[in-house]
Amino acid sequence: MENIYDLIKQRRSVRNFKPDSVDDAVLKRILEAALWAPSAGNTQARMFYLVKNPELKKAVASACFDQDHVELAPVIVVACTDVEAMRALYGKRGTTLYGICDVSAAVENLLLAAWSEGLGSCWVGNFSEQELQKALKIPKRFLPVAVVPLGYPAEIPPSPARKSFDESVVIL
Ligand SMILES: Cc1cc2nc3c(=O)[nH]c(=O)nc-3n(C[C@H](O)[C@H](O)[C@H](O)COP(=O)(O)O)c2cc1C
Repeated sequence: MENIYDLIKQRRSVRNFKPDSVDDAVLKRILEAALWAPSAGNTQARMFYLVKNPELKKAVASACFDQDHVELAPVIVVACTDVEAMRALYGKRGTTLYGICDVSAAVENLLLAAWSEGLGSCWVGNFSEQELQKALKIPKRFLPVAVVPLGYPAEIPPSPARKSFDESVVIL
């Protein structure tokens, strides 16, 4: 197994992709990794839309305020929280915190699994939820939390700096 610390540090947000398609078996492994993320009360109230259709990819990129790299990827994952399930179980805390956390945990698993498969990805958070729901006919109960373009990297950007341990950790 790859060293998990190397995997975490070497993963980069990739915004330039080769046109090569991604095997369904690889996509399934990556999505399975997402499903194994923790969730509040193990509710797993999440839904993932896998977009390969070129017209729909274009619509997703448009909903992401024309971020070109989104459309360039051969596959796009739209990760959603099930707002109705979270509201029924946990009320306001479910919709404003747990639902977002549950999907975010899944997305991080997805990014790391993709990288370990030699795939590039990028967490895209700048989008119109309503436009995405309309373009992909996503029911209102599934609120998009993250858009993740996936594909084989055409280029890997240099590592952006991170804050130091001392700047970010308080030891009491
Ligand atoms: C919540 C969230 C929203 C983001 N939104 C976007 C986005 O809309 N477009 C984009 O190109 N990158 C987006 N990013 C990616 C960040 O810019 C990137 O993770 C950061 O610059 C660090 O680079 P790295 O992922 O290569 O370590 C987002 C990341 C997160 C976690």
